[in-house]
Amino acid sequence: MTERPYVIDEMISAKSIAARVEALCREIAQEFGDTDKLVVVGLLRGSFVFIADLVRELDLPIEVDFLEASSYGDATESSREVRILKDLRGAVEGRDVLVVEDIVDTGHTLNHVTNLLASRKPARLKSIALLDKPSRREVDFRADWIGFEIPDEFVVGYGIDFAQRNRNLPFIGKVRFT
Ligand code: IMP
Repeated sequence: MTERPYVIDEMISAKSIAARVEALCREIAQEFGDTDKLVVVGLLRGSFVFIADLVRELDLPIEVDFLEASSYGDATESSREVRILKDLRGAVEGRDVLVVEDIVDTGHTLNHVTNLLASRKPARLKSIALLDKPSRREVDFRADWIGFEIPDEFVVGYGIDFAQRNRNLPFIGKVRFT
C-alpha cells in the first residue's frame, strides 16, 4: 500500500494537555465528589490515553469500563448509522456515568452513545471530550466538558490516529500532506 506523505505540526503541547486535564478534573470532582458509584466509560480506541490521564487525576472511587462504537455511511448524512462493536461489561442502571471521548466531530457517535446509555437509566450521565470541532457538527450535541475547541483540521496523537498510526504521540498535532 502506498501512503501519501505527510508531516505532523504540533497544535496542542503535552504540557497544555496536562494542565487542561488537571483543570477539567477539578470540575469533574465537584460534580461527582458526592458519589461512590461513578463509572468512567472510555470510547475505544481514541480515548485510551485521555481516560488514563483523567482517572489518575481524579481522586474519587471510580470504576472504568469501555465501549467501542463505529459509524458507517456517508458522513454528510444526518442519519449516519452508529454501531456498537463492543458494549460495556457492567450495568449502569442507578450508577453515575461519565463518558469519555477523544473528539466530537459530526456529533453522531457521542449523541448515539449517550442516548443508548441514558436508556439504561443511570442516576447521572455526563460526557467529556478532549477536542471539539463545532464547525463540523451535524447533530445538535454538546459534551458537558470540552478540553479544547479546534478548527476543522485532521488531528492525531494523544490516542488519536490517522489510519491507526500516531496514537502514541504525546501531543496533539495536525496532519499536513506534503
Ligand atoms: P463523530 O461521530 O463525527 O463526532 O466522530 C467522532 C470520531 O471521529 C472520533 O471519535 C474520531 O474517532 C473520529 N475523528 C473525527 N475527527 C478526527 C480527526 O481529526 N482525527 C482522527 N479521528 C477523528
